[in-house]
Amino acid sequence: MARLYTDDLSIGYGERLIVKNLSVEIPDKKITIIIGSNGCGKSTLLKAITRIISHQSGRVILDGKNITKENTKILAKKMAILPQTPESASGLTVGELVSYGRFPYQKGFGRLTKKDYEVIDWALEVTGTKDFKFRPVDALSGGQRQRVWIAMALAQETEIIFLDEPTTYLDMAHQLEVLELLQKLNIEQERTIVMVLHDLNQAARFADYIIALKNGEIVKVGNCEDVMNPDVLKKVFHIDAEIGRDPRTNKPICITYNLVNGE
Ligand SMILES: Nc1ncnc2c1ncn2[C@@H]1O[C@H](COP(=O)(O)OP(=O)(O)OP(=O)(O)O)[C@@H](O)[C@H]1O
Ligand SMILES: [Mg+2]
Repeated sequence: MARLYTDDLSIGYGERLIVKNLSVEIPDKKITIIIGSNGCGKSTLLKAITRIISHQSGRVILDGKNITKENTKILAKKMAILPQTPESASGLTVGELVSYGRFPYQKGFGRLTKKDYEVIDWALEVTGTKDFKFRPVDALSGGQRQRVWIAMALAQETEIIFLDEPTTYLDMAHQLEVLELLQKLNIEQERTIVMVLHDLNQAARFADYIIALKNGEIVKVGNCEDVMNPDVLKKVFHIDAEIGRDPRTNKPICITYNLVNGE
């Protein structure tokens, strides 16, 4: 059994149920990518697993314990999340924002230790944001700011990292840089990575495990070979996809697609 799993989890807003009776394992030390169309419940699921929002029924179990019963700082040392639209950080410098990632480790008045400063500098370094350290977050471009938020999540030094569409706003090179960084953290430091991506080819390239959602329910879970096929993509996205092979990575890729209408 994985460290982290959901058991018959249902999540909603008011009367409206978004995620329905979902039971899924998040494999340890792997990269899991969640795919699905807009509004299908990906962010809702991530928020409930990380306890940003509460769920309606079922359980999220981490290390044998229901997360609703877990201490906040302990949880924050185990799981970090980069939300899809992080709260604005107006008035903060980049260094200050990234230092917020160290909150689970702070005691008393929250003074930063030498170790905290080292981790902050490491997070700035690996996300290529070191040069912005003393600049206001507000004064960065969308892509620069996105990488700073990623740095903050990394500074939390958790074994499990959730990222909701981390490549939004990033140019093609920076998208690949971020995904390769996450892959490196996964391989070299055995961190469990869970992210939402809309780019199916990137999902196939980087995922060990893909969860395909539709209307808050699982259509398919498996590796890229299991999920990147015309049948699954038709069910999940209503597209008629032509799947080929990436000549460099040998992973499946969607070469072209059309919309399927009237089904
Ligand atoms: N705070 C909220 N209150 C009420 N409804 C919400 C709230 N947040 C999301 N929803 C609704 O829940 C559904 C799922 O939203 P969610 O953000 O989980 O989708 P998503 O799969 O992440 O989509 P996207 O790809 O667009 O990010 C949507 O219909 C959305 O309108
Ligand atoms: Mg979302």
